[in-house]
Amino acid sequence: MRKKITVIGSGNVGASCAIQLVQKELGDVVVVDIREGWAAGTTLDMFQFTPVAGVDAKSAGGSNYEATAGSDIVVLTAGFPRKPGMSRDDLVWANYDIVKGTLEQALKLSPDCILIVVTNPLDAMCHVAYEVSGFPRNRVMGMAGILDTARFRAFIGDKLGVSVEDIQTLVLGGHGDAMVPLVRYTSVGGIPLADLLDADTIAALVKRTAVGGGEIVKLMGTSAFYAPAAAAVQMVEAILKDKKRVLPCSALLQGEYGIEGLFVGVPVKLGAGGVEKIFELKLTEEESAALKKSAAGVKELVELMEPKLAEIRAARG
Ligand code: NAI
Ligand code: 2OP
Repeated sequence: MRKKITVIGSGNVGASCAIQLVQKELGDVVVVDIREGWAAGTTLDMFQFTPVAGVDAKSAGGSNYEATAGSDIVVLTAGFPRKPGMSRDDLVWANYDIVKGTLEQALKLSPDCILIVVTNPLDAMCHVAYEVSGFPRNRVMGMAGILDTARFRAFIGDKLGVSVEDIQTLVLGGHGDAMVPLVRYTSVGGIPLADLLDADTIAALVKRTAVGGGEIVKLMGTSAFYAPAAAAVQMVEAILKDKKRVLPCSALLQGEYGIEGLFVGVPVKLGAGGVEKIFELKLTEEESAALKKSAAGVKELVELMEPKLAEIRAARG
């Protein structure tokens, strides 16, 4: 039997995600959006795309959650994107209600799914998803690190005039401007980045990566979607194919890196069990301080939401 993947939100990220899932034949795709006709229309269009693409995957959509029942994976993309001048954190209250409301409906029907959060502010919304779901931490995760890493890889590849495929790197921390691209863990075909570029050039690439989302928002008035969708699809693929990929994702830390009870971007093993392992790196003092600073930004938002999160916990019993 084919796997079932639900995408909540059929906006820029959700629709891009759905078409890529179909294109990769990862399963049947159900898309839910309050814009009923849009979700129904775009998914019908995607289904009509399948004969041309030579793939077998059903896609359907609407505003009702019934068809999502029994999903293996739920990808949450519903919510407001930022506009120029806004930080991701500015979205917290607008998206809190959307995340809580949509997941309450979806998870009743797919209680065994694995949940991938995309909605911003990413790490904070993972906390809402974690509380609403009551799932163990391996089944709730956020997409950000793959995107942030991809940006760093793209910029490095461009600067060196080499294939982006040959660049290995790691970005830790919350999905905000204080994220921590790790130069020490960056190599090009096995060659340390520091052997290929001078410190100022590397610093400029690190800076561009950290504000990489904002650069796109400034250009088009809303946030990126092709790369974010591809990153979420990579997570879905790793889980459904039990690939055991090692990818940076937002995961709930319970003491790892000296951080307790916060969703933060770290390298994890992604397989059929979701987050099957969190890899703990030996960071330098400077890297560790940068990670703690980034995590402190997540903590601030979580503390702001805490009274509401406590209500969710209490209602769950
Ligand atoms: P968009 O505005 O194009 O789409 C959002 C969709 O959510 C709309 O179709 C809207 O109708 C739907 N929606 C709103 N409330 C809903 C509800 N209660 N139930 C069902 N659907 C609902 O926005 P876009 O560009 O797709 O971004 C979506 C979210 O993903 C934003 O919060 C954005 O900041 C975030 N994002 C996160 C990234 C990451 O790296 N984690 C990367 C890119 C975007
Ligand atoms: C990005 O980094 C908006 O979080 C999204 O593009």
